Amino acid sequence: MTGNLLEIKNLQVCAEDKIILNDLNLTVREGEVHVIMGPNGAGKSTLGYAVMGHPGYSIKGGNILFEGEDITEEKADVRARKGIFLSFQNPEEIQGVTLENFLRSSKTAVTGKPLRVIAYKKDLYKQMDSLNMDQDYATRYLNVGFSGGEKKKSEILQMLMLDPKLAILDETDSGLDVDAVKIVSKGVHAFKNKKNSLIIITHNTKILEYLPVDKVHILQNGRIIKSGNASLIEQVNKSGYREFITSERL
Ligand SMILES: Nc1ncnc2c1ncn2[C@@H]1O[C@H](COP(=O)(O)OP(=O)(O)OP(=O)(O)O)[C@@H](O)[C@H]1O
Ligand SMILES: [Mg+2]
Repeated sequence: MTGNLLEIKNLQVCAEDKIILNDLNLTVREGEVHVIMGPNGAGKSTLGYAVMGHPGYSIKGGNILFEGEDITEEKADVRARKGIFLSFQNPEEIQGVTLENFLRSSKTAVTGKPLRVIAYKKDLYKQMDSLNMDQDYATRYLNVGFSGGEKKKSEILQMLMLDPKLAILDETDSGLDVDAVKIVSKGVHAFKNKKNSLIIITHNTKILEYLPVDKVHILQNGRIIKSGNASLIEQVNKSGYREFITSERL
């Protein structure tokens, strides 16, 4: 039997004194793929930020456990070292830091070990190739002037290079053309193994075609209002969220 990788218990999260997530519970076991869906503004990105430890989102109640260890109070860099990765819905542009250097320093920071540069570069170019990214992007400043789709690919490249235990992908598929969705979902599929887990936040379920989905959760008003198996995706695609939505407010 596999263990719980992430356990979120009765989580309450605020940003700027506004309660965004309330009494949220979620358990992701080792090797599982979970999908989070829900209307705009439901709190999906906030959930990703809270698990990653974004300083703008304060945890007012509940706990987050990773591999059985309470990480509720831990900072984002500690969580990253433990093996949590978040791909941002809106990746930031960072002037003055090339994609290659950013990835190298992230990998060193996360593993705590010096990199063998030649082997690392070989791996980087291999992964870029698998995502159909030109090698020139490695020497460009991180995401600066990248198109929306290129930024998303650069996030997936980070995930592939960091090889986390838990990857949270926040609308990684939005803004990608049809071919890019296929390339990125194959990249995610190549990343997935029996041990690591994924939380995929999405409105567009194309990215899920290549992935075995274990559980689907619908988030509304900062709470999970419905959980089920992959058939829930079909139901949402067919009828929208109306049948699940409750009138309850936080
Ligand atoms: N830093 C913040 N300060 C104030 N309000 C915030 C902050 N971050 C999020 N919110 C609010 O919390 C709610 C949830 O936002 P969140 O971005 O988590 O939604 P979402 O489910 O990811 O939506 P979408 O599908 O549009 O990406 C929204 O009403 C949003 O305006
Ligand atoms: Mg969002």
